[in-house]
Amino acid sequence: MEYGGLFSEDTRSFFRSPVRDIFRRVDLNSIYSFAGGYPSAETFPLEEFKETMREAVDRYGGKAFQYGATQGVTELREVLSARYGVPMERIQITTSSQQGIDVCTRILADPGDVILTSDPSYLGALQSFRSYRADVVGVPHEDAPERFRQAWRAAISRVLESGRKVKFLYMIPDFQNPSGETLTLREREILVSLAEEYGFLVVEDSPYRELRYSGEPVPTMYSLAPDTVLHLGSFSKIFAPGFRLGWIFGNPEVLDKIYVCKQSLDLCPPVFDQYVAAEFMGSGRLDRNLVKSISLYREKRDLMLSLLEENMPDGVTWTHPDGGLFLFLTMPEDFDSVAFYDTALDAGVAYVAGSFFRTDGGGRNTMRLNFSFMTPERITEGIKLLAKLLGGR
Ligand SMILES: Cc1ncc(COP(=O)(O)O)c(C=O)c1O
Repeated sequence: MEYGGLFSEDTRSFFRSPVRDIFRRVDLNSIYSFAGGYPSAETFPLEEFKETMREAVDRYGGKAFQYGATQGVTELREVLSARYGVPMERIQITTSSQQGIDVCTRILADPGDVILTSDPSYLGALQSFRSYRADVVGVPHEDAPERFRQAWRAAISRVLESGRKVKFLYMIPDFQNPSGETLTLREREILVSLAEEYGFLVVEDSPYRELRYSGEPVPTMYSLAPDTVLHLGSFSKIFAPGFRLGWIFGNPEVLDKIYVCKQSLDLCPPVFDQYVAAEFMGSGRLDRNLVKSISLYREKRDLMLSLLEENMPDGVTWTHPDGGLFLFLTMPEDFDSVAFYDTALDAGVAYVAGSFFRTDGGGRNTMRLNFSFMTPERITEGIKLLAKLLGGR
């Protein structure tokens, strides 16, 4: 059969994740992989998972294996409500925060509408935006608050002058993927006030917020404007990504559209997983485990930073994240991290080229490095090798 003529217009805008292609090409355990965004398997307490699953079966019986409510099981929404102080009617459970991004895009963006985001931004979100044929406009970061405001205002004005609509602004304010950087309170206030002034929503994607290793937490954008911001949370980095669970906090009228959208997507989030998550979080195990994960990741971050300091050649700079799983390297202007990738992989070390996260394909002299996945020993060997390949010590 000729399939070509059968595919929808939307599929023409699909693009493959270069990050996932890297995973297909190589076995992550056989190389020094700074490429993925995987949590460390050490943070999965398998014995406690077993206990929690048994408890979920004992407590909920057959209900745990039945279809469930589209907005998520009450028990999990109650635990989230108590933990984050958000009323139940403002909570929708999602089948991972990737789905959260996708449903927000699906209910808000028509082909040709504009979604604003930082440049660089999360690749999985760019894939989702483009799959709905939305135009994505990236705004590079400006450090001074007034310049920051002007850059965003200018981007919005250009979109409106071109006759298009801005539907929402997508940001990862805490320990961004890929840069590792965090928005200040002032920057969050500026973005929320621009959204209110111009009448669009903010999608605040926050999977790393609770992985903070230094500095003080900054209020969420959602807490500044709960009717303007849709806040996406995830169990992937604080519990385990295999459960594929996340949540959205937002205005009930907007959540109702997501609720109907999810009926056609998957009817309900995975029910057994939700009961296990509710038990794990509600019993305090999640918080106890998070303390251990934070201390493990803090050590790895500190190790990465000191190895970069000791080994990288002059002219290479990097971000100093207060949390999350990534840091971002900038090489001299003439370096091409896309072209260099095969050389690095042949030598046994993988990273993700920074230009893959850009809306304009720029930033070819940058790369994202993950510090959560490998053991300290392998991080040490891997950074030494990468630095040597880059001409360092
Ligand atoms: C910024 C960001 N949002 C969303 C996701 C997807 O997370 P989940 O596993 O909840 O789908 C990731 C995963 O790496 C991410 O980095």
